[in-house]
Formats: sequence, structure tokens, C-alpha cells
Amino acid sequence: MLNVVLTGFMATGKTVVGHIVARRLGRPFVDTDMEIERRTGLSVREIFARHGEAFFRQQEAALVKELAERRGLVIATGGGTLTNPTNLALLKAGGVIVALTARPEVIAARIRDPEERPLLAGRRGPELVARVEELMTRRKEVYEAADFTVATDNRAPGEVAAMIIEFLKGGSAGGTQGHG
Ligand code: S3P
Repeated sequence: MLNVVLTGFMATGKTVVGHIVARRLGRPFVDTDMEIERRTGLSVREIFARHGEAFFRQQEAALVKELAERRGLVIATGGGTLTNPTNLALLKAGGVIVALTARPEVIAARIRDPEERPLLAGRRGPELVARVEELMTRRKEVYEAADFTVATDNRAPGEVAAMIIEFLKGGSAGGTQGHG
């Protein structure tokens, strides 16, 4: 049984949707950020502040390597996890990749505290939107490598989860199917 791997930009709902998909399918759920936080005893924000992004990415890669060896999981990755080509290849080999999207303005509106996301820290209003656009453009190809994509802008998490489950069952589900 393949893993279901959720990717997409910050605040597209990977954690919330992943949780619902896992519960409805009766599969174990792993959120990579939460698992890294559990293992290190630090929040993502603290990890970046104390040890830097490179250390966080090492933790992320080590966890991905471990999770990619398992099957039947629902995995919510961090927004930057699949920008590491090894992470992408490992998770793709044993899983179906599902990308969640949202427009930059929607993402900025969903982020109440940018300080919790080190890559967005210190930005507000139009500056936050611009930063989201910049990172999103840089990561476009990575998110586009997904097998199935769902726009979350005007959808409740339960509906997004239903579309993913429909896709997994072989239906078209109204999302966009990738070629990868
Ligand atoms: C990151 C996204 C975050 C977290 C870290 C870096 C990114 O996860 O992993 O702050 O590079 O986009 P979410 O996408 O769950 O916010």
C-alpha cells in the first residue's frame, strides 16, 4: 500500500487535511514538522533560531529517509521538504504525491503569526504576499511534480480530503492530475 504524501506551500492545509484523510482511511498520520519538533523537543521556529535552516533540513531529510521505507502512511510534509530532490525521489518511489495550492493572498491571510514560520518572519501585509509569491515561484516545479493537485482557496478541509480520497480510489475528483 503506497503512502499518501501531502505537499504544497505553507498554510495550504497539509496538516489539517492530512489528518482527516488518515482518519477516514484508517491509516497512521505523520506530520514531518511535528515529528521533528517531537524528536528535538524544539519548535520549528526554535530550531531555525538556534541551529539554522541547514540543521532543520538535515533533520527533515533523515526523517524522510525513514518514512519512505514505510508503507500505508499519510504524510504531511513541510512546505520546503520536497525541494530537496532526494526527498522528492524517495517519497515518490513509495507514495502518491498530492499537492495543495492556494493563491498568495489567501496564504497571507491564513498566516496569523508569520513569526512561527521562519522563512516568512518579519513580513506583514503586501511584503508578506510578495515573499510568498517569491518562494512559491521558486518552488513551482517541485509542487507541479505531484500526481494530483487540489486548489484549497475556497474549500473546507473536509472537502479537500474527500477529493483526495476520491482520487486515490481512481475517480477524477475535480482536482488536477499530474503527469509525473
Ligand atoms: C517551511 C515550511 C514549514 C516548516 C518550515 C519551513 C518551508 O512547514 O517546515 O518553517 O520551507 O516552506 P509548513 O508548510 O507546514 O508551514
